Amino acid sequence: MDVVVLPTAADVAAHAADVVAERIAAEPATVLGVATGSSPVGIYRELARRRREEGLDLSRLECFALDEYTGLAREDPHSYAAYLQREVADPFGLPSARVHVPDGTREDRERAAQEYEQSIAAAGGIDLQILGIGTNGHIGFNEPLSSLSSRTRVLALSAQTRSDNARFFDAPDDVPTHCLTQGLGTILEARQLLLVAQGERKAEAVAAAVEGPVAARCPASVLQFHRRTTLVLDEAAASRLTLGEYERPGRRA
Ligand code: GLP
Repeated sequence: MDVVVLPTAADVAAHAADVVAERIAAEPATVLGVATGSSPVGIYRELARRRREEGLDLSRLECFALDEYTGLAREDPHSYAAYLQREVADPFGLPSARVHVPDGTREDRERAAQEYEQSIAAAGGIDLQILGIGTNGHIGFNEPLSSLSSRTRVLALSAQTRSDNARFFDAPDDVPTHCLTQGLGTILEARQLLLVAQGERKAEAVAAAVEGPVAARCPASVLQFHRRTTLVLDEAAASRLTLGEYERPGRRA
């Protein structure tokens, strides 16, 4: 894995946006995997700024969400479909049809999961997948003990994830109990992975993912199997790393 450590969360967003923009410069019709949660917001805002102010062409992107809650209507502001409309489709100038999200409202949720896999395959697979990491090491909503080769499926959210995400809802009980998420095997098929993490509360999960054994107790550790993975961290998120001399661009020796 390439691990890049930067002083602040703003530096993380700018550096990660560079990685995405480089990819888009090489292939404007990039298939971009988009994470939700707070971690990638700075990347989306920086890309949108470059589109507005520097003419970055985002018009040919095709985007795929990592996951979605079940039981929330698309229009519900807490749904990931609504998040991606606000943070990606609108500011990137993309029609909603180009931002695909698993359909968590379908009665046959397993079928919805399979169809989502098919839609990723039909787009030619994901070129660059943006990821955050949960405090328990989850990526997407693949909670600890997920199969390392899992596919898109329905999962129950852990108590820790529901409590972590309660900040986005009016009351803790409003957090859905289940989700549809790309599996770890699905994520590993993306041609390039870009994980961002900021803040001390992610430090333990980041250390387990980067330096721990590959193990289902830390789903993000499966990224060690991927040949083209970059982690962009701020100093706080990197604070429990102990093994390597990680890249710190711009720092004087
Ligand atoms: C959420 C999402 C993940 C996200 C993670 C971290 O539950 N399903 O895709 O990466 O948890 O969230 P945040 O970036 O808000 O800390």
